[in-house]
Amino acid sequence: MQILILGAAAGGGFPQWNCACANCASLRAGTLAARPQTQSSIAVSGDGERFLLINASPDIRQQINANPALQPARGARDTGIGAVLLVDAQIDHTAGLLILREGERLPVYCTPPVHEDLTTGFPVLRMLEHYCGVDWQPLSADGTSFEVPQVPGISLQAFALSSKAPPYSPHRHDPHPGDNIGLLITDSGSGRRLFYAPGLGELEPHLWAPMRAADCVLVDGTCWTDDELSRRGVGSKRSRQMGHLPQHGPGGMIETLERLPEARKILIHINNTNPILVEDGPERAALAAAGIEVAHDGMEIVL
Ligand code: MLT
Ligand code: MN
Ligand code: ZN
Repeated sequence: MQILILGAAAGGGFPQWNCACANCASLRAGTLAARPQTQSSIAVSGDGERFLLINASPDIRQQINANPALQPARGARDTGIGAVLLVDAQIDHTAGLLILREGERLPVYCTPPVHEDLTTGFPVLRMLEHYCGVDWQPLSADGTSFEVPQVPGISLQAFALSSKAPPYSPHRHDPHPGDNIGLLITDSGSGRRLFYAPGLGELEPHLWAPMRAADCVLVDGTCWTDDELSRRGVGSKRSRQMGHLPQHGPGGMIETLERLPEARKILIHINNTNPILVEDGPERAALAAAGIEVAHDGMEIVL
């Protein structure tokens, strides 16, 4: 199984267009040991040819341009993207669907609550009916194994998890199972597995089995501390309120991942305010000491 990190940043990307936090300002000034990152998306393939796009970020055009495997190779109009799967209905994971409008009818896998948000509060799937059209494939978030015919060589399981529905969802303050999911993806040949959850607010007990089953976990790296946005002077929302477990401190992601000694551990969906973006900083060193990597655009994982 081949996993391409198309975008390692959280919503807004790095740098964010209107942000002058210490990270974004120093990155623009060229004084930070850090690299720009686009918004949250990965692509997964079992055969190296047909890819499942997991989340369609607002930066998808740039991401396709940067990843030859997703570009046309077989015909006058063509793509390496066989189907799209959405883990939630957030803008950073779905706005890129609009960019795919010139293509063939698009198979889109998502849960019923995500489909509801994407046909009401942010009706992107209805809008696409006037362009390529969408074949919605409902996902159940109960761990049932399924395959994506357009992307052979992998099977998947989706698990409901606690993160956050978008602000335009009636579920924003009234969580329902399936608003957000994590995925366990298995390579049919090698049996090796990836657990992917870019939004992970809480490690609920039912998530331990799929996480323990994974050879690699690629999980929420949004914020270092719960109060990161206010510390940086760019907002008052807390990381946990936004459905993202911070890394540092008791009960944080670093401590949580200690319970997975065997797995390769990688953080993704990193907010531009997060000090782990600084490659020579102490927070990055603390992650390295805990055996945790930080995803970046262009990273490739082979399982
Ligand atoms: C999130 O992950 O909390 C959202 O994507 C934030 C956003 O909309 O930028
Ligand atoms: Mn996000
Ligand atoms: Zn910033």
